[in-house]
Amino acid sequence: MLTDEFRSLLIQKAQDAWQRAYAPYSTYAVGAALLTDTGKIYDGVNIENAVYPLTVCAERVAVFKAVSEGERSFRAIAVVTRNGGTPCGACRQVLAEFGLDTVVLIADLQGNLLHELTVADLLPHAFGEADLDAARD
Ligand code: THU
Repeated sequence: MLTDEFRSLLIQKAQDAWQRAYAPYSTYAVGAALLTDTGKIYDGVNIENAVYPLTVCAERVAVFKAVSEGERSFRAIAVVTRNGGTPCGACRQVLAEFGLDTVVLIADLQGNLLHELTVADLLPHAFGEADLDAARD
């Protein structure tokens, strides 16, 4: 269960990160903050590129930072945008890899919590490791 304290802290960290987004092409800044089971928080921002498809979303930056530091279990991720946009399909799949129960907090720039969901809510019938095992039979 996510406490109110962590809820506010994650949204605050995602708001702070939002300021550092590198989004000169879309001008759609995104900030994310990911809480691990060990109590650490990794933030992320979207990082765009003049070669547009090379852009990486804020959520994936946060997950990849955490995983590269040895963290693989996540309690929650907060995502802040100007209008409360939800994670894209690719980010849903990357989050699903590390747990369908991770809580996803969607907030706006003012820090208003607009949606509180799980990865399973966002990606029903997710493809995962178990599907690969089934394919081997
Ligand atoms: N973006 C994210 O960072 N996360 C999402 O889940 C949705 C999209 C970024 C990618 C791009 O830099 C900008 O938002 C517009 O698509």
